[in-house]
Amino acid sequence: APGGTADVVWQATAVAREERGTRGATIWLTGLSGSGKSTVAVELERQLINAGRPAYLLDGDNLRTGINAGLGFSAEDRAENVRRAGEVAKLFADAGVVAVVSLISPYTADRAKVRAAHELAELPFLEVFVDTPLEICEDRDPKGMYAKARAGLISGFTGIDDPYEAPAEPELVLRPEDGDPAAMAAQVLALLR
Ligand code: PPS
Repeated sequence: APGGTADVVWQATAVAREERGTRGATIWLTGLSGSGKSTVAVELERQLINAGRPAYLLDGDNLRTGINAGLGFSAEDRAENVRRAGEVAKLFADAGVVAVVSLISPYTADRAKVRAAHELAELPFLEVFVDTPLEICEDRDPKGMYAKARAGLISGFTGIDDPYEAPAEPELVLRPEDGDPAAMAAQVLALLR
């Protein structure tokens, strides 16, 4: 058990997963800032709901205003950011909801832990690599962050002066040539089915 939980015993629920009516899962979108992962995630949540599947979007920026408030962008804080998002996603998945997570999540080890936690809980975990090259992300620069990073106004920016470890074996890779966000989301939906 993680630190400080030695005297805590897991309390099982009386409701079996099959009784909840819907099957949950976690879809984990990883990629650089500006890769389009959040746009695909928004579209995917929409398509899932339209298809009658309960779904909920867990976006990195949004989580950082609440459950992940106070965390920065050091390797340690990013690890904790990913861990918490992973735990929340797992709860949603356990409840029968498709958790759609959009987080840079730059470190392989952190993502692997989230995957392992889902496997232990026997919940589907699909890692989707939004593989948009840095040049394109930087060209888009929707929030002007890359310009600031290049100007030295932000340090430790992913892809500029902080690492991004691309997934070695993601369930799906999405590249710019795969079409618009709706087409990309449809690919994820097909994979889930
Ligand atoms: S992480 O690495 O998974 O903890 O990051 P995440 O929670 O997804 O947050 C990424 C968004 O925060 C903004 N931002 C930064 N990104 C990367 N590096 C640094 N140093 C940084 N500082 C702020 C950035 O706009 C990311 O937004 P997205 O939505 O990914 O474009």
